Amino acid sequence: MGCFSFLCRRPIASPIKRFSELDEELSEVQNLKLYSYKELRAATDDFSLANKIGEGGFGPVYRGRLKHGKDAAIKVLAAESRQGAREFLTEIKVIYEIEHENLAKLCGCCVEGNHRILVYDYIENNSLAQTLLGNGHSSIQFSWRTRTKICIGIARGLAYLHEEVRPHIVHRDIKASNILLDKDLTPKISDFGLAKLIPSNMTHVSTRVAGTIGYLAPEYAIRGQLTRRADVYSFGVLLVEIVSGRCNTNSLLPLEEQYILERTWDLYEKNELIELVDTAMYGDFDAEEACKYLKIGLLCTQDNPKLRPVMSTVVKMLSGEIKIDDDKITKPGLISDFMDLKIRSNPNKTPTNDPKKNTFNTNTSSGSDNNGELSLLSSNTTSQSTMTFTDVWDRPN
Ligand SMILES: Nc1ncnc2c1ncn2[C@@H]1O[C@H](COP(=O)(O)OP(=O)(O)OP(=O)(O)O)[C@@H](O)[C@H]1O
Ligand SMILES: [Mg+2]
Repeated sequence: MGCFSFLCRRPIASPIKRFSELDEELSEVQNLKLYSYKELRAATDDFSLANKIGEGGFGPVYRGRLKHGKDAAIKVLAAESRQGAREFLTEIKVIYEIEHENLAKLCGCCVEGNHRILVYDYIENNSLAQTLLGNGHSSIQFSWRTRTKICIGIARGLAYLHEEVRPHIVHRDIKASNILLDKDLTPKISDFGLAKLIPSNMTHVSTRVAGTIGYLAPEYAIRGQLTRRADVYSFGVLLVEIVSGRCNTNSLLPLEEQYILERTWDLYEKNELIELVDTAMYGDFDAEEACKYLKIGLLCTQDNPKLRPVMSTVVKMLSGEIKIDDDKITKPGLISDFMDLKIRSNPNKTPTNDPKKNTFNTNTSSGSDNNGELSLLSSNTTSQSTMTFTDVWDRPN
């Protein structure tokens, strides 16, 4: 079964239609809740700065209160990402119909004039990036039980997207900021399916949707090969972040500890994985299970995509339904190897410890591999650096 062809070329925004001209499209998307721009303006106090809760690659997000009193997260898609109304509604319909306990629920949209706005259920407890990895800016205590529940929930949501939804959905941007926590700390994966809303030649937007360095599977980063196994890789990185309570990249640490996967592999080889477990739990965790989770993280991030387990298997491993085979773990695809390759391919660029200067460009485009220009940016402690492909390709697993 083929995956969602997120990246196929399509014409950019068709001429903007008036609301009344959308009848035909609307009949195709029955049950989709359509909000008027006026309604959303009122809900967000005219999209006021005070109600802005963040801004990602798609545009700003506002907290709003809808007419009947329900809180919503209102995502205003950036001008560059605007599609024609029909196209937009068709894509939205797929996301709208997906329901799962571990997926953020899209509750409607606005397609008025040239506005393209998504309305989601408001999720109370922010993202994992802001809480668990947010350098103490959150009051949430992440106990070991809470962490296992979060890991299993994310794995279930991803298994659903990969294996149950038809056509399958490759998320492409699994990372801590796309995992929201509800009032019971149940994880909700957000932004699934959104890559499809962005025309593939919109380079600026695809910087964000094409993946986040640190979470990127090497075969996707280098050759642009996007399969469900690239999501499995990103999940593996996230899993290690959740157990260790640290971001995947931290250039403030000693060199050998900066990249989380490198560190995990190192400790695994020395049989010292326990050292990576978050000290913020003050030793109150199941040591055997925590090390097992780290090993599952290593299984998911193996360099050879075919060796990575599928997400339904990961769910079973995490919940203890099936045992993991330690002997099967091979070296992860490491970002530092990737950097080395890039530096070698670019003799004029020298890496530096200054994160602001750690920007590399390479152009390794060849044949059907379709690698376009790639640029990497890194920051001191980050799960959010971004990369740009001018062209990538999608193909089924
Ligand atoms: N449904 C929601 N409920 C509550 N907060 C949300 C919701 N959706 C997004 N947010 C918050 O809005 C902010 C911006 O989210 P957005 O998805 O636009 O950016 P991002 O996840 O940081 O980056 P990316 O564009 O790569 O996904 C985040 O801080 C997120 O916590
Ligand atoms: Mg997001």
